[in-house]
Amino acid sequence: MRYRWWIIFTALAVTTLVTLWTFRLPKVYQATVTLEYDPNPTSPLGSSVEDVGGQVSHFLMSREFFETQNLIIQSRAVAERVVEHLGLADDPTFFGQERDTDWAPVAKEVAAQRLQSKLTLDPIEDTRLVRLKVRDTDPERAATLANMVASAYIEKTMEDRLGSTAAAAEWLAQQLDSTRTQLNESEHALHEFKKQYNVLSVSVENRQNLLAEEIREYNERLTSIRARRIELEARLGRLKAARAHPEAVQGNGGGEDSELDALRTELRSKVTEGAALAVRYGDSHPTMLELKGEIAAIRASINDEIETLIKIAADDLKEAQAVETGLSKVQNKAQKAGMDLNLREIEYSRLSRQQESNSKLYDLLLQRTAETDLTRLLRTTHVRVVDRALVPKAAISPVVSLNVVGGVIGGLLLGFGLAFLLHQLDRRIQDVPDVERLGLTILGVFPRVAGSSAGSSSGYSARRKRERVGEVENLDQVVHSHPMSMAAESCRTVRTNLMFMAAESPNKTMVVTSANPKDGKTTVATNIAIAMAQSGQHVLLVDTDLRRPRIHKAFNLDNRIGLTSVLLGQNTLAQVTRDVGIDKLSVVTCGPLPPNPAELLHTKQFARFLEEAAAQYDRVIFDSPPLHAVTDAAILAPQCGGALLVVRAQATTRDAVISAIRSLRDVHANLLGGVLNDVEPSRGAKGYRGGGYYHYYRAEEYASEDEPPGHSQSAA
Ligand SMILES: Nc1ncnc2c1ncn2[C@@H]1O[C@H](COP(=O)(O)OP(=O)(O)O)[C@@H](O)[C@H]1O
Ligand SMILES: [Mg+2]
Repeated sequence: MRYRWWIIFTALAVTTLVTLWTFRLPKVYQATVTLEYDPNPTSPLGSSVEDVGGQVSHFLMSREFFETQNLIIQSRAVAERVVEHLGLADDPTFFGQERDTDWAPVAKEVAAQRLQSKLTLDPIEDTRLVRLKVRDTDPERAATLANMVASAYIEKTMEDRLGSTAAAAEWLAQQLDSTRTQLNESEHALHEFKKQYNVLSVSVENRQNLLAEEIREYNERLTSIRARRIELEARLGRLKAARAHPEAVQGNGGGEDSELDALRTELRSKVTEGAALAVRYGDSHPTMLELKGEIAAIRASINDEIETLIKIAADDLKEAQAVETGLSKVQNKAQKAGMDLNLREIEYSRLSRQQESNSKLYDLLLQRTAETDLTRLLRTTHVRVVDRALVPKAAISPVVSLNVVGGVIGGLLLGFGLAFLLHQLDRRIQDVPDVERLGLTILGVFPRVAGSSAGSSSGYSARRKRERVGEVENLDQVVHSHPMSMAAESCRTVRTNLMFMAAESPNKTMVVTSANPKDGKTTVATNIAIAMAQSGQHVLLVDTDLRRPRIHKAFNLDNRIGLTSVLLGQNTLAQVTRDVGIDKLSVVTCGPLPPNPAELLHTKQFARFLEEAAAQYDRVIFDSPPLHAVTDAAILAPQCGGALLVVRAQATTRDAVISAIRSLRDVHANLLGGVLNDVEPSRGAKGYRGGGYYHYYRAEEYASEDEPPGHSQSAA
């Protein structure tokens, strides 16, 4: 509460500043393009012609892909395209400058960076859509930028894909070239081979079959000729053997030897005939002789015949042998040709295989090249603009209401923070525990009283008038005028406490002092004096504040004579003692102000005065100047039975209280305790007596109040 104005002011100031700042902020517009990632871009070539990019569709479905694309949209490469296209680097308005300022075009990268900072991407959950948002101070430019970024991105993806297609096409072309030469070479080699080995029309296999047939025939013939040769050899042997025994009849009388056989038969018959004739005629008989001649002739014929046969057989054998040799030669040759043909076949199939594979590869490459050329013509991509950006109508920022609310909240927070800080830094006494912590027992709390006559000149009072709860004409006599008030009650409490203390150490005389001027010494002193008088004691109130006396004003007395006149020996105590219309209360004003107040209080005259007063009254109360400024109170205090220290809440600092206590202790004064003055009723209730019952002061309550003095609910 004490710092409420601080808080209100801070909150207001901050709110005002924030509001002003908000209105000065440039308006920002946001344009949105919606893009769709299409995993299966329609291809006019159909699914049979596969993109050279390869299997993309599966990859496209993955989350990774979307995220990659999102980053590509925001990439510098895309931003730079837009910057180039729109010439943003030369546009001062893009950088928030006036159009006609001297503007040195910035680097492309810088403009791109600025554009990137204006971009946000907002993928729509569970869809393939993404919102691309661009913020700018110019609504039209926001839309243009959004659309441009989208198209630059699409262009880039297309170029990237075409780039890969182009690379593939280039590679294919190279491959095609080298494959073509290889194919030519292999075809040429095959041709040469065919030409060389005469494999023009008949295939190698056919030739091999033919060759095998040939070899088989040779074999057959060779076998038969061999058989014949062996036969001939046998025959020759036989004939040669017959040469030794020409007449011996051979076992096998083959057809070929029929002539010989006939000769032999004739010989045998002639010989048989000769044997028969020899018995009849003898050897020398002419018939015998003739027969013998005939036999000899046959024998000669046989020998001739054998010779002839041998010659024929030998000739035949020779021929057969020659045929055999020839045949086996031819057969060998054929076999060798077969072997050669085998080797050639291997070579041939190798060459033809090579040619075949080369031609296959060539065909394939040719087809791919054609397809690649087609895809190059075809610009398909996996991104599509669903909604183009429109020129935004309303600015999205600043949001005035939000900022103002933020300002209010921030201001309040700051205000409370400031209040808390000030509170922490505040060294002034706030409440009873604050004082008691310093070692001063509080005998009572004198509440803040709002009043017109109560020191209207005082800064405190002037301020407090605003929070008045009623009015008191004379605060110094509030106990008398308003005995039911909280102030009166608290004075009675102080009185009670003092009386309890007096029971132990009788102190008739008491000085009321404080650390600083205006702490309320006079107010407290008069009221306590009244309270004590009301309790039936004879009380003398003496104004020993020889610097700023106020007692006479408090009781509307003149100050022509008083304490100083007694001390100067001009008057007696009885002469200066005044009655103020309050039963049992007498007052001595201070009298004319002396030049040396402190010295006066040191004099024997004063000591005598003190003695005399103490003798005549039950209680003598001295009002005094503050301890802080002058020594008067410190001189007075040890001469009195006790000292009461007034502390003004929220005015006296802790340090002032500490030094006041120390200066009283230094002079061995009997510090009875303190009175906390000017306590706000609520605070006092909280700080003192722990929720005790208080009468809140209300002026109208006292209008009809007619309590007899001395009435008291206190212990008195
Ligand atoms: N509890 C209080 N409520 C309101 N005003 C007060 C209170 N105590 C003191 N004052 C005012 O403060 C001013 C200074 O008080 P005063 O008793 O003259 O102080 P001191 O004697 O210590 O200089 C006076 O105008 C007085 O009316
Ligand atoms: Mg005073």
